[in-house]
Amino acid sequence: MDTTTDAAPMLSGFGNEFATEALPGALPQGRNSPQRPPLGLYAEQLSATAFTVPRHEARRSWLYRIRPSAAHPPYRRIDGGAIGGPLAQPNPNRLRWDPLPIPEAPTDFVAGMATMLANAPGAAEQGVSVHVYRANRSMRRVFWNADGELLIVPQLGRLLLATELGRLPLAPGEIAVIPRGLRLRVELPDGQARGYIAENHGPLLRLPELGPIGANGLANPRDFLTPTAWFEDVDAPTEVVQKYLGGLWATTLDHSPLDVVAWHGSCAPYKYDLARFNTIGTVSFDHPDPSIFTVLTAPGDAPGRANMDFAIFPPRWMVAEDTFRPPWFHRNVMNECMGLVHGVYDAKAEGFQPGGLSLHGLMSAHGPDQATTARAMAAPLAPHKIDGTLAFMFETGRVLHATQFAMACAALQADYDSCWNGLEKTFAP
Ligand SMILES: [Fe+2]
Repeated sequence: MDTTTDAAPMLSGFGNEFATEALPGALPQGRNSPQRPPLGLYAEQLSATAFTVPRHEARRSWLYRIRPSAAHPPYRRIDGGAIGGPLAQPNPNRLRWDPLPIPEAPTDFVAGMATMLANAPGAAEQGVSVHVYRANRSMRRVFWNADGELLIVPQLGRLLLATELGRLPLAPGEIAVIPRGLRLRVELPDGQARGYIAENHGPLLRLPELGPIGANGLANPRDFLTPTAWFEDVDAPTEVVQKYLGGLWATTLDHSPLDVVAWHGSCAPYKYDLARFNTIGTVSFDHPDPSIFTVLTAPGDAPGRANMDFAIFPPRWMVAEDTFRPPWFHRNVMNECMGLVHGVYDAKAEGFQPGGLSLHGLMSAHGPDQATTARAMAAPLAPHKIDGTLAFMFETGRVLHATQFAMACAALQADYDSCWNGLEKTFAP
């Protein structure tokens, strides 16, 4: 089942109009839907934005495929497991989870996906849902998501994302975004995998504005990679699973739907190596708000208040003078979900493990734990490099609720609050 991606060239840029064909002459020239597309293919448009959105917002692609997607039997509802599950009662507490274990039973990417947090139940058309995935075998079926685009953050093990529009190899330290509706099969080159998924139900992810930073910096457009066209011509029963308003539905085709021989357009999966992020910080004192670490953002319903931001805390130099260098104590109108790919996050001495997850919701008070605070206040402020770590944050302007699954799972830490014990009164007027 595993498909290699050796020597497959990638297309570079963010939101570009790409054009690619896996066979010479497969891509029509001069028109999108000729009377008879080349090579006996069918033409099909995939629209991730409404037809009449402003041009700079528009993402759509034309697919030239062996069979049109419309040729399928009815979908039937199947057990979604921990996907899209009911939300728990609202809970204002700070919450943290240990990494969820890799299952022992055969589990593919879809079966091992669990919804941990969401702004609203599965039927929401705005906001974000946060899932974790744990898998120990490659998918033999194909998945697509009607509910939003998927930002995948691998934490353990590589993935090979075999999509309708081409193959994306993905490793921890990289991210990928899968457009709403795009079919994919997730294969596991390392035999097991774990990671995070932010499902963006709102306006599409894009690069943040740079303001006074100027024309360069943070994530640069050319470092985003999109696959070239690739297809399989397989006439064998293939289960196709879709997530629709939070529930899973399945049908069986008599062929693989990964049969797009050529495509062009701006609606495409892409990947990005987070090591290419141009991290910017203070060279004097204090530190900027974490918005300076934004890789991708999806706008919300008020200027600057995102439906979803994806920010990272990568290796970087700390040089601030007369400054408390870890993230300070704060309370935030935004809702912060954090994960850790590897290493140690500079605001927590222990308890926040790679693969773990934390939620600091609407106006909840949080910040460095006692041990980190004491160390930071006593530290000599020589230039210091934070290295060997990669933490990240999904931040949203809407309140995040834990699911019933997340509140009931054994990985939920019972004593998270205790990490702030011992912050004693030092007031000495
Ligand atoms: Fe925070």
